Amino acid sequence: MAGCKHAVGVGNGLDALAFALEAAGVRPGDEVVVPAHTFIATWTAVRMVGAVPVAAEPACGGYNIDAATFAQALTRRTRAVVAVHLYGDPVAMEPLSALAAEHGVIVIEDAARHTVRDATAGRPAASGRPLRSASIRARTWARSATAAR
Ligand SMILES: Cc1ncc(COP(=O)(O)O)c(C=O)c1O
Repeated sequence: MAGCKHAVGVGNGLDALAFALEAAGVRPGDEVVVPAHTFIATWTAVRMVGAVPVAAEPACGGYNIDAATFAQALTRRTRAVVAVHLYGDPVAMEPLSALAAEHGVIVIEDAARHTVRDATAGRPAASGRPLRSASIRARTWARSATAAR
């Protein structure tokens, strides 16, 4: 995993997200902001650790959440946000991460559907930030990982 100090291989992308949430200290009853538009595993992982998924809408003109739609879902109970990079279009992480840091919210990136380079920063999507999950799948094999900086 480029730019990471540590990487952990797990069975699939769902487990990667659940482990990431657990490692981030998300506990039963905490709220986790997740995109309204994503694969079901993003939501299931939150329920696997007993937390409550709270939907954030896609940003206007795109498929991903952004800082503004994250802000609408943010409450005092929000412990983490899962930013999902969809369809080769990376989430604008800097403003979202800044807002999360302001509120003490942990950012987890779900890069299961994102393998192209982050055009805005010239680095692989999700690299250099605290926690990401990636799932690289093919017909006969599966490989997943969580990584912590
Ligand atoms: C956005 C997203 N997150 C997580 C997953 C879960 O990955 P896996 O199927 O390896 O459990 C997928 C799978 O398609 C996905 O599209």
